[in-house]
Amino acid sequence: MLYLDGNSLGRLPLGTINAVRSVVEEEWAHELVLGWDHWIGLGETIGDRLAPLIGATAGEVVLSDQTSVNLYKVASAALAGTGRTIIVTDRGNFPSDRYILDAVARSAGGELRFISEDPTLDDLAAALDASVGVVSLSHVGYRSGVMLDGAAMTAVAHDAGASMIWDLAHSAGSVPVALNEWNADLAVGCTYKYLNGGPGSPGFLYVRSDLLEQLEQPIPGWFSHADQFAMSETYEPARSIRRFVVGTPPIISLVAAGVGIDMTAEAGIDAIRRKSIELTSLFTEGLTSLRHHGLVQITPADPGSRGSHITVSHPRGYQISQALRAQNVIPDFREPDLVRFGFAPLYNTYAEVERALEILESILTTEAHATFPEARGRVT
Ligand SMILES: Cc1ncc(COP(=O)(O)O)c(C=O)c1O
Repeated sequence: MLYLDGNSLGRLPLGTINAVRSVVEEEWAHELVLGWDHWIGLGETIGDRLAPLIGATAGEVVLSDQTSVNLYKVASAALAGTGRTIIVTDRGNFPSDRYILDAVARSAGGELRFISEDPTLDDLAAALDASVGVVSLSHVGYRSGVMLDGAAMTAVAHDAGASMIWDLAHSAGSVPVALNEWNADLAVGCTYKYLNGGPGSPGFLYVRSDLLEQLEQPIPGWFSHADQFAMSETYEPARSIRRFVVGTPPIISLVAAGVGIDMTAEAGIDAIRRKSIELTSLFTEGLTSLRHHGLVQITPADPGSRGSHITVSHPRGYQISQALRAQNVIPDFREPDLVRFGFAPLYNTYAEVERALEILESILTTEAHATFPEARGRVT
């Protein structure tokens, strides 16, 4: 399989097989509930291992829930008590982000204010006023692959008195992220994409250390209680990142996510970024000779402005993605006409890029895609 969808679901690290086997066969099988003595803080310890990859400090990152749920928690926490009711995001942001941010703003009596997809600093600045409490953007856009300027956007939000939340789903493990340096307030992201944590592995969230004791997340659970096993009548939030978790963590998935994170850290994000730029540049150079087939590259030509996937549009994009899959080349498709090619530096090779271009060219030249149905499957 020529796998170009690591931006959606990363490959299986070999080390994960043994790690999962061991947590199931040794820990779950033999320790049973006693395992909680060492499982209980796993989301936090793996968060500490992830922290340097996203420019955060130990104690500021935890693995828990899903990215969508984490966004709900941090966005609600950021808006509460500010006296402001508007959240700003861009029209091209991921559906969960748009729906959740809208719900959070509405429950505060306000609304979600949209700016254009892949916004400039001026677009953002123009949307801000004293009613905006939160700005939430994806660092790398899931559709376009555009990478925003984390430091500059955060500064623009802060100048208007708003908190900045970054969605790092397409950034973590693929591009350098410097949350502390950017002075970002909050962030969320996935571990199953470039961090290779496995299907449905837990999301992560980041809270800047000085905000940890100020913010109140909206789902107070026993895992976020200051003294969890006191089982007290009243809720008192923990004074650490644990304040942002809710209930029992999925230990098997956490162990798998830990392997992917450690492997990524071992490779080093700068080396990963270097190879990502080489892979995506090789692919975009090849795409230029296919333009006459009606392919339009959506992702910026400038490597400094993009993440690790390249998106092209074509009126028959869905059929092209199906034709590629039929030849064992795996991109994915996003409505209405976008084919996304993800390049994961930990396992994609330069030869794979060239081979994918050859197959794409032969499909377009022979119009092999025309024979595939336009009707979408349940998963695209
Ligand atoms: C940018 C972005 N944000 C949020 C999500 C939602 O993640 P989850 O389904 O794990 O909550 C995704 C999923 O692909 C995503 O790409």
